[in-house]
Amino acid sequence: MFKGFLNESILKKAQGKGVITIKIHDIRDYSEDKHRKVDDTPYGGGAGMVFTPQPLFDCIEAVKKKAPKAPVIYMTPKGQRLTQTKVEKLSIKFTQLILLCGHYEGIDQRVIDALVDQEISIGDYVLSGGELAAMVMVDAISRLVPGAIGKEASHEEETFSKKLGRKKEYPHYTKPAEFRGMKVPEVLLNGHHAEIEKWRKNHCK
Ligand code: ADE
Repeated sequence: MFKGFLNESILKKAQGKGVITIKIHDIRDYSEDKHRKVDDTPYGGGAGMVFTPQPLFDCIEAVKKKAPKAPVIYMTPKGQRLTQTKVEKLSIKFTQLILLCGHYEGIDQRVIDALVDQEISIGDYVLSGGELAAMVMVDAISRLVPGAIGKEASHEEETFSKKLGRKKEYPHYTKPAEFRGMKVPEVLLNGHHAEIEKWRKNHCK
């Protein structure tokens, strides 16, 4: 399910340029079970299945050997909420990240206790797996890596940026100056930088 996403636009270009590298590890490949089983019923009863510790320990330990300084981040709705501030912090602090995607009801707590450094949620809703959440993280962080996107797309002044006080960005307009009777605000047409700046500041939400 990562293929389409990784082979599109910015992420594809950034990987092509060697600015970022993304590696997918299938937990089933690490299962010692002959049917490559990775889950089992929960102790104490209840619905759903839980990831067993063995494949996860082996997989994470193998990946950590290649990326010893990378934090292991478990994508879970129980985690700390992802914000642009958090995205910036992660992109500045680390050059490598290990993102762990859960499924089913969850993963054996011993994996979290022994190997997970951070738990992150992308919002207060439950996805059927952590993959979509991991893709959201990868996208948001990758575009901040220097060289990942063109010069024209500055991060400095965009929605949730520090420069805009973490607010939502001002509205954008392009040509024509009038379309179906709808006019572009006059102030943006006159080339008066200080006034444009003021208008933009006032139109952040
Ligand atoms: N896995 C399932 N739901 C999730 C969410 N909201 N955030 C991160 N990982 C998840």
